[in-house]
Amino acid sequence: MEKVQQLNIGLIGAGVVGRGVVRNLARNTDLIAERLGVRLNLKWVCDKDKSRLKNLPVPASVLVRDAKVVLDDPNVPVIVELLGGTSFARTVLLDALNRGKVVVTANKALLAHHGEEIFAAAARNSANVFYEASVCGGIPIIKALREGFVANRFPLIYGIVNGTCNYILSRMTAEGKDFDEVLAEAQKLGYAEADPSLDVDGGDSAHKATILASLAHGFWTGLENTYVEGIRHVTKYDIEIASELGYAVKLLAIIKTADASDSAPIEVRVHPTLIPRDHVLASVGGAFNGVVVRGDVVGETMFYGRGAGADATSSAVIADLADAALNLKCGSVQRVPAFVAHRLNARVRTIDDVESRYYLRLTVEDWPGVIAKVAKVLGDADISIASVLQREAPESKPGHPPSDHVPLIFMLHVAKDRAVRDAVAEIDRLPVVKDKTIIIRVENFD
Ligand code: HSE
Repeated sequence: MEKVQQLNIGLIGAGVVGRGVVRNLARNTDLIAERLGVRLNLKWVCDKDKSRLKNLPVPASVLVRDAKVVLDDPNVPVIVELLGGTSFARTVLLDALNRGKVVVTANKALLAHHGEEIFAAAARNSANVFYEASVCGGIPIIKALREGFVANRFPLIYGIVNGTCNYILSRMTAEGKDFDEVLAEAQKLGYAEADPSLDVDGGDSAHKATILASLAHGFWTGLENTYVEGIRHVTKYDIEIASELGYAVKLLAIIKTADASDSAPIEVRVHPTLIPRDHVLASVGGAFNGVVVRGDVVGETMFYGRGAGADATSSAVIADLADAALNLKCGSVQRVPAFVAHRLNARVRTIDDVESRYYLRLTVEDWPGVIAKVAKVLGDADISIASVLQREAPESKPGHPPSDHVPLIFMLHVAKDRAVRDAVAEIDRLPVVKDKTIIIRVENFD
């Protein structure tokens, strides 16, 4: 049998994921060594908060509170950064890369904000960055795009990449509850953070969409070019009407090329979306993630699994450590580089130019001629109406429009986003319109 080598690892950040990595490495260390021919050895586990270093299945001599000890160790070629945040984590990561070390990170915010700088530092130092755990926790989507689908261009990638939002929307749908009520319960149960804004306002999904788009399309798309809308404005009422019309409401990340040419701009957007209720993503419920990847060679593929949590995320971190270990075994650190910018003239399309179908919910006075007034604004803007639904005024209760006004729903054919938003701004200025119109994009993904 071949000799089992050893890879020394320095783990910095013993929070939920860091502790999960330590625990799961201890649990399956022999199995992993048999599979790889390399033993993953945690030489250091570091956290400045000593309470986080308690009750871990490693010898006390491994525990340390100063990250410098880990970074300075010449016998540690791989650093696992699980600090979170974009300040100290960035310093640690760049320091490690500048010393030629390989870095494994789960830090989507750091990569989305500073990815270009980080990948450049890795290339400059002949180091490498592995980041499987940064997108969709345990789902191996990064490796799939980078290696499994290397033969493909990606006309379309879309999916549910935030478990918190999916949990909230799933419960709003199943239980007919309002956003605020479900959010409060989700916080009590630990499904949502005390400050939920990064999740519910779409920022976390935007980080992941930016990473996926950049990797899939071979240029740094930039977080500032990712359009983002969260789920706070989605009401149980909209979910109910969408369901009547045959749709489910999901927060999606959508990465789409405008056409099949190599010069086509890319759309990178995150927003609540109506999808057909029989679409496979409509059945991705609770805190699960699901991503569909359409490759020009492979066709349609789908990934499903847990996008968060200590175990799922540590599974991805350990997979990255396995890659680093196999590179070591083969005397290479960049068998597959972290990121390659090969489309230097590519660009991201602004949301103004995106084309989609739309659901509009207006709140209007119930007088003759109201539909005609609204339809005229849409018609003048060359926006085609697919269907109109007027409901009787529902009882006045939270989440429903006030009862002296009626909801009027328009489903639109494909139109340009800017044209729809401008038309809705004009509609909202009509005296018969009593509340801000709700706009939700509709996708069939045909
Ligand atoms: N907070 C994220 C989610 C997991 O709810 O999916 C980490 O990105």
